Amino acid sequence: MAAIHPSILSADFVNLQAELDRIANADAVHVDVMDNHFVPNLTLGLPVVQRIQQVSPVPLDVHLMIEDVDRWAPEYAKTGAASVTFHVEASRAPILLARELRACGARAGMALRPATAVEPYLDLLAELDLLLVMTVEPGFGGQGFLDVLLPKIRRARAAIDGSGAAVALQVDGGVSESTIVRAAEAGATVFVAGSAVYNTPDPEAAIDRLRQLTDL
Ligand code: DX5
Ligand code: ZN
Repeated sequence: MAAIHPSILSADFVNLQAELDRIANADAVHVDVMDNHFVPNLTLGLPVVQRIQQVSPVPLDVHLMIEDVDRWAPEYAKTGAASVTFHVEASRAPILLARELRACGARAGMALRPATAVEPYLDLLAELDLLLVMTVEPGFGGQGFLDVLLPKIRRARAAIDGSGAAVALQVDGGVSESTIVRAAEAGATVFVAGSAVYNTPDPEAAIDRLRQLTDL
């Protein structure tokens, strides 16, 4: 069953509560946390995520694009977020971190930058609830979907199916009505979409259209 997670990176940051209410039919809201070190952009941090958690009509899917993530990710899990995703490139101890996130009550997600291969991490699948294959270089919304990542999505899908672990396969970056079918055919099941949802007059209708397109 496909899930659509709009990213508030493309929302109006001065009106977050209203912007959350505009996506009430989403499966979760994707919250991009950037520290201007792991990626060359700065968004929001823990106090803002705590408030989003209090007012959001849908569960939170927190995507941490930050350094020192072993220290900070558990704090995001303690906000009550449904899932917290860290970048494996930023973690010193990803297995321990995934276990800590679960112990804090969140689903544990691990993200891979476009040039990070999935193969070295396949033994970690049992520790994870979500694997995020980035389909743009993280840092900014509105970039084009990198088709060169489709084989990696397919390999991740095959590995997840072969492992028997219940791991959701998420794609993030450039997901739109013209790219989501390719990602779904490759095996993704959770779709983050920022500009394709928020840069439209009716975000709820955009979510419905994206969801229908994944019904292969
Ligand atoms: C990029 C972020 C994405 C971004 C996606 O680093 O992780 O979540 O918001 O935006 P779109 O869907 O516009 O590519
Ligand atoms: Zn993201």
